[in-house]
Amino acid sequence: MSELRHEYLAALGIPVWVQRDCAADVADTQSSGASSWQDLAGRVRACTRCVLHSSRTQTVFGVGNVHADLLVIGEAPGADEDRQGEPFVGRAGQLLNAMLGAIHLPRADVYIANILKCRPPSNRDPKPEEAEACMPYLERQIAFIEPKVILAVGRIAAQWLLQSDQPIGRLRGTVHSYGTASTPLVASYHPAYLLRSPLAKAKAWEDLVLVSRILNDPS
Ligand code: URA
Repeated sequence: MSELRHEYLAALGIPVWVQRDCAADVADTQSSGASSWQDLAGRVRACTRCVLHSSRTQTVFGVGNVHADLLVIGEAPGADEDRQGEPFVGRAGQLLNAMLGAIHLPRADVYIANILKCRPPSNRDPKPEEAEACMPYLERQIAFIEPKVILAVGRIAAQWLLQSDQPIGRLRGTVHSYGTASTPLVASYHPAYLLRSPLAKAKAWEDLVLVSRILNDPS
């Protein structure tokens, strides 16, 4: 059912029943029931919702300022992040820090999280069922943080957050809207891709300027 139709029916006071799969229901209840940030963090630490729990060293909940204006969302922990329990601590993380520094944002001022809280083995792409199981946690984090803007780095983060199958080259460069709070969302290249393709850094810079403009918009 389209969102608009959904809104009309809700405005008319007509209850709308949407069929969902059972796993998604359980996932939502387990995360959206979290009454506080600490509660949510505890639920993530104990999570066994997908197969990745059996191969992780630890979960990677996120790091930074929980009152941040900017929320950066990546794909999933890699080997370094799995070991240290913190997102973006490897080479890609160093580049991300430099990118944030270029718009005068120290890493500690933003919040950084991923679509997945657990490392996929051999750094493979997240499977749809893994992302679906994990997304309610991130959605709850976003609701708690209430960022002024979200920066989705990489195809996986951008596609999952925007529910799109467009390539990252198409998704970047404009301001999207995320969720019921219509949070501005900018998609850009993943720092790991930028390490391999430095020529794309010029476009990533344009995306950061866009983010910076939204952050500095007084309205
Ligand atoms: N790549 C990501 O997408 N996230 C991390 O935390 C590290 C590398």
